[in-house]
Amino acid sequence: MSGKRNVKELISAQDIAQKIEILAHEIQKDAPQDLLVIAVLKGSFMFAADLLRSLHNIGMEPQAEFIHISSYGAGTVSTGRLNILKDIDSPVEGRDIVLVDDILESGRTLAFAKDLFMARGAKSVKLCVLLEKPGHRAVQITADYVGFQCPDLFVVGYGMDVAHSYRQLPFVGYVETEN
Ligand code: IMP
Ligand code: MG
Repeated sequence: MSGKRNVKELISAQDIAQKIEILAHEIQKDAPQDLLVIAVLKGSFMFAADLLRSLHNIGMEPQAEFIHISSYGAGTVSTGRLNILKDIDSPVEGRDIVLVDDILESGRTLAFAKDLFMARGAKSVKLCVLLEKPGHRAVQITADYVGFQCPDLFVVGYGMDVAHSYRQLPFVGYVETEN
């Protein structure tokens, strides 16, 4: 599979980089204490890495953690049930948390993760997403830091996949279907 050839670019690498600088400043403005950035795997890995570097570049010292939450059972249709496949290792008590994800869609994943870390005693849990998809929200939740509004398409790249492909792309795009 060649990757780029049949993927149409929606958001360029340059636009993503510029937006991440803005998001980092928004996070800094809220003056988090003992900041822990938690990336929700797998789709957010590239976004989280770039956001962490951007936070560093403006003088912040966030710690980083990773949680892997699966929203699917054996099939391909979302069941609404969530499983923790890999939990974080760090304590969250009394800390300001920023949860980082690729897309806010139904909101179930981030609502689940936010509740989890609040229940563990975090001082605050804020949500930072690269993309916000309209029209599919199943739970009442809003992101605190949003990169871009996403058209109602299945997008790939910049960490996001379809069937494990395209995560490596430096931009966000969609797979063109061939007729
Ligand atoms: P939700 O908000 O709980 O529905 O979860 C959204 C998650 O579904 C994201 O973190 C992605 O992993 C995945 N997802 C939703 N839409 C897309 C898409 O267009 N491309 C790739 N992954 C998607
Ligand atoms: Mg995800």
